[in-house]
This record gives sequence, C-alpha cells and structure tokens, in this order.
Amino acid sequence: MLVLISGRGSNMQAMVEAGLPVTAVISNRADAAGLAYAAGRGIATAVVAHGGYATREAFDAALAQAIDGFHPDLVALAGFMRILTSGFVQRYEGRLLNIHPSLLPAFTGLDTHARALAAGVKLHGCTVHFVTAALDHGPIVIQAAVPVFAHDDETRLAARVLAQEHRIYPQAARWFLDGKLVIENGVVRIEGDHPQQLYAP
Ligand code: GRF
Repeated sequence: MLVLISGRGSNMQAMVEAGLPVTAVISNRADAAGLAYAAGRGIATAVVAHGGYATREAFDAALAQAIDGFHPDLVALAGFMRILTSGFVQRYEGRLLNIHPSLLPAFTGLDTHARALAAGVKLHGCTVHFVTAALDHGPIVIQAAVPVFAHDDETRLAARVLAQEHRIYPQAARWFLDGKLVIENGVVRIEGDHPQQLYAP
C-alpha cells in the first residue's frame, strides 16, 4: 500500500506501526515531517511538489505517474491537503481511502473541530471512507465517535479525535488488504461480523 501525506504524517506512522505493508509514501510538500519518519523506516519516499504544475490536471497526472511506479494495491490519503481531480479519483476508484476528522456527512471540508465546537455537537469523531469525486463524500468504512466536553477547546478536541484516527485508519486499511470490504449501493459491508464504529469516552 502507498500513503499520500502533506505534513506530520501521524496517520501514516500509525499504519506503519500497526504492521501494515506501507511500501511508499508520497508528499506534495518537500518539508512534510512524515517523509523523514518513512525514510527512517526504510520506506520509499517521493515528493511531487504541487507548486511545479500550472494546473490541477498536470499535478494529478504527475502524481499518478509517481504512484503507479510503485504499483500499489491501496492508496491511502492521510492528511493529503490537495483537492484531487475527478480523473485522478476515477483512476484509483475502489482502492483510494481517506480519513476525515469529523463524523461524515457532518463537517466536510476544513476546520472541522472548530466548526463542531461552534455547532455545539455533543459527539464528534472521524471517518474513513472510499474517495469519490465529491469532496469528503464516498462510502463510509468505519467511524469513531468521541465526546465533546463543555470546556473543550479545538486543541483538546483535535487530540481526542486524532487518537481515534490512529485506531480506525489501520483497521480500515487492514480490512481492505484482506479483501473484506464490499461496496453495495454506495454502502460498505465488511465481510464477517465486525463492528463498523467505535466510541471512545
Ligand atoms: C488528520 O486529522 C486527518 O484526519 C486530516 O489531516 C490530519 C492529518 O494528520 N485529514 P497527520 O498528517 O496524519 O498527522
């Protein structure tokens, strides 16, 4: 499997530490901290810097070329901060996963923790989903919910969610690689009797 990152790469690190077969990590930013971690673990790394391309299409084509050089069975977006073209998404359809820091379909897009606090929701969380052309939509694989406390701030809430991201993303990737994920009418079914959510008080 191959992981795309833009920064810290803690979700990628969680996958590596869970024993998943991460064979390559690609970043759109040369200064992504996660690249050093991956290299230190002997994982192939590459940078496709988005600034070097005039259009989204040109960047996505270069990214696809870099990805395909590794022949990955699964491409996992993990804090990859680029909107992908529909052509790119179609190319990897069915083997492209993303993690989003909210309980989708609530709070698509950016600043999810601040928006959750502003909305006064009492449960927040994270979602692993297959990527489709619609931003932060696509068949949901697994979710984790966390409580929102009365005096939470964005930092505390983000940390509580991130701890769960590190649990559910490796799980989702494992299910995918084991061939356990079936999409039927836009809904993911996991073969066997597995819980598709967890709640972390
Ligand atoms: C995570 O919160 C992820 O859900 C979001 O971006 C953040 C990336 O963190 N898409 P990291 O780079 O995996 O540490």
